[in-house]
Amino acid sequence: MSLSFEGRVVLVTGAGGGLGREYALAFAERGASVVVNDLGGSTDGGGKSSAAADKVVEEIRAKGGKAIANYDSVEDGDKLIQAVLDAFGRIDVVVNNAGILRDRSFARISDLDWDMIQRVHLRGSFLVTRAAWNHMKNQKFGRIIMTASATGIYGNFGQANYSAAKLGLLGLANTLAIEGRKYNVYCNTIAPVAGSRLTESTMPPDMLNSLKPEYVAPLVLWLSHEQCQENGGLFEVGAGWIGKLRWERTRGQILRKKNQPMTLEAVRDNWDKICDFTDATKPTSIQESLQSLLHVLSEVESEGEVGANPTASAASAASGSGLNPNQAVGQKLPPSTFSYTHTQSILYALGVGMSTKDPDHLRFLYENHEDFSCLPTFGVITAQAAIMGGGLSSIPGLDIDLTQILHGEQYLEIYKPLPTSGNLTSNTTVADVLDKGSGAVIHLDVHTYNGGELLCFNQFSVFVVGAGGFGGKRTSDKAKAALPPPKRAPDAVVVESTTRDQAALYRLSGDWNPLHIDPSFAAMGGFKSPILHGLCSLGFAGRHVLKQFADNDPSRFKAMKVRFVKPVMPGQSLQTEMWKEGNRIYLQCKVKETDAVVLSGAYVDLHAASGASPDVPTQGGGLQSELVFAEIGRRVKEMGSELVRKVNAVFGWEITKNGVNAAQWTIDLKNGSGSLHKGPYSGKADVTITVSDEDFMEVVQGKLNPQKAFFSGKLKIRGNIMLSQKLEVILKDHAKL
Ligand code: NAI
Repeated sequence: MSLSFEGRVVLVTGAGGGLGREYALAFAERGASVVVNDLGGSTDGGGKSSAAADKVVEEIRAKGGKAIANYDSVEDGDKLIQAVLDAFGRIDVVVNNAGILRDRSFARISDLDWDMIQRVHLRGSFLVTRAAWNHMKNQKFGRIIMTASATGIYGNFGQANYSAAKLGLLGLANTLAIEGRKYNVYCNTIAPVAGSRLTESTMPPDMLNSLKPEYVAPLVLWLSHEQCQENGGLFEVGAGWIGKLRWERTRGQILRKKNQPMTLEAVRDNWDKICDFTDATKPTSIQESLQSLLHVLSEVESEGEVGANPTASAASAASGSGLNPNQAVGQKLPPSTFSYTHTQSILYALGVGMSTKDPDHLRFLYENHEDFSCLPTFGVITAQAAIMGGGLSSIPGLDIDLTQILHGEQYLEIYKPLPTSGNLTSNTTVADVLDKGSGAVIHLDVHTYNGGELLCFNQFSVFVVGAGGFGGKRTSDKAKAALPPPKRAPDAVVVESTTRDQAALYRLSGDWNPLHIDPSFAAMGGFKSPILHGLCSLGFAGRHVLKQFADNDPSRFKAMKVRFVKPVMPGQSLQTEMWKEGNRIYLQCKVKETDAVVLSGAYVDLHAASGASPDVPTQGGGLQSELVFAEIGRRVKEMGSELVRKVNAVFGWEITKNGVNAAQWTIDLKNGSGSLHKGPYSGKADVTITVSDEDFMEVVQGKLNPQKAFFSGKLKIRGNIMLSQKLEVILKDHAKL
């Protein structure tokens, strides 16, 4: 598909001739509204005329394009941008192109020669860009081009003033690229070569004619297009060729030892090594640059040898990432509220594909149904508002580019069936920040409350593309792990097609990301068309399990974990494959048409059906574990002395419910003939075990192996871990309960 600039407003400075004219014509031809700015002076900056700009505007209009002329100098940046706004109401693209030459060998450069060059090129680009900046930031879109020159990059005889200004523009662009990034305002720099009146005197006529400006314009247009995600780049362009430039740095040498001065002679003696580009690194950010220095300091501190060089790991450990786990982990977002009525619960059910054609769906679709209920996976909706509020990047140590975020995994646990309407509050905590090399993973824990009561827990795991390499850890004990399905044919398979408008419908539940509705936005993300929300597929899969294994009873839904692997296009069919293992249903979702796996590592945990349950009934809403401890108490009384001899340790227990500490117990199998009491131990327990009431019951009933519970983080142990092996002695034979 050809690229269009329809609806975009573009300013090209110095567009009365040469390269600028070519850009203006090309932008207009592709539908942009163009402001053709040119002061109309001579090549050395003298004089003024409206003729140059007018002529280009006439050319554009003759071809049916939209353009106006402007004759201000780029030194009047505010006026110039105002003219753009007056004419077209917005500003999307600024091409800083205006330029003059005042070539002299260095000794002969006058103050005026120096100042005029800086004023037009560097200061002019600064003033025009500054005037446009806030408009671009506010509309969350902007593309800025700086025009440097090979003369600035490499130097050229007689152009000291000009090279200084031209490379000054690169420095300006480097920082604008960083400051604009999170607003989708990108800035790139080109060093063009083309025949024009500026190069007339420096090139033979044949060459001048063959290096056409039209061989430069396509790069400028690409860098100005919304689809282009390049930011902070530097390109040489001419003759129909484009190349990108970057910095390269030698590995370098450390030239001092701890508590010793750095000497001139050490510099001389190591000069070749300092300048040796073997295994050179290519730092891309100031963080990377500084990181190497920090490494040098620690090398010197640890008595590194003179002649050592900072290791590659130091160079690669750093990156431009604004992530700092030490600062970010544990930080909280301000509490957020989510109010909804039955309309939202029904809308959500429709959004995840429920339909009145299935009679058993009616309880989720009709507010007067006698079992009217909210789908459990609506729990993700109650929490996502907390995350989408936009407060994330203001968390210290979490300076991320929100456009580079992918939803990687989701975990949802429900403690109480969700009400069909409510007024909920969510608290979000940064649980962990992981370094995955190519990117970073941020785990966000959201606890959602109804009044004072904990309703559900969500863990959003988001992947930030390109933010890795900051030297952080790769795994987290706080992450809810995705689990592979058993290696056998699935026990049940459900195929259901999504509709063409599935995403359009689902987004009304609160995920307004244009990626799911706006074709041009989707194209920017590299998709052929808008994609379905990952959480919508989660909703489909969740209700497939609920129907297949829990008779559509929302109170049986306990928890769900999903990894988002690939996008689904609205209209495609979802194939949910399910494996039942006790109360855990493993699942995987594919797109039927392509056989591509879209949800993996997924499972739903169900509560056992009432009646069929081998579970201990809860007493008046109390803890199931109470009964087990009562039984342990009886046993300690009976055979305490023998247990003390075998075990010889004090066990502290912390039983949690809904994530909070609900009871403490002490099993003393060390003193006297042993004892059990409710409450903490008066001294220091040899080992303290923290586990939820539910998991405790699973362990006791032999459904959950204690070792596995420990490695999956369900059972936490402080103190002498080895003693936990003796747990079996205490807990065995409780299944009969
Ligand atoms: P050009 O002289 O044809 O175009 C520059 C235009 O800028 C002129 O129309 C001039 O009237 C206008 N201008 C000068 N001062 C201005 C001011 N204060 N306010 C508004 N407009 C002003 O030259 P060309 O070659 O098209 O150059 C375009 C840009 O590309 C310049 O920045 C130049 O330094 C740069 N460049 C060109 C190269 C080439 O090979 N042509 C090589 C490297 C850089």
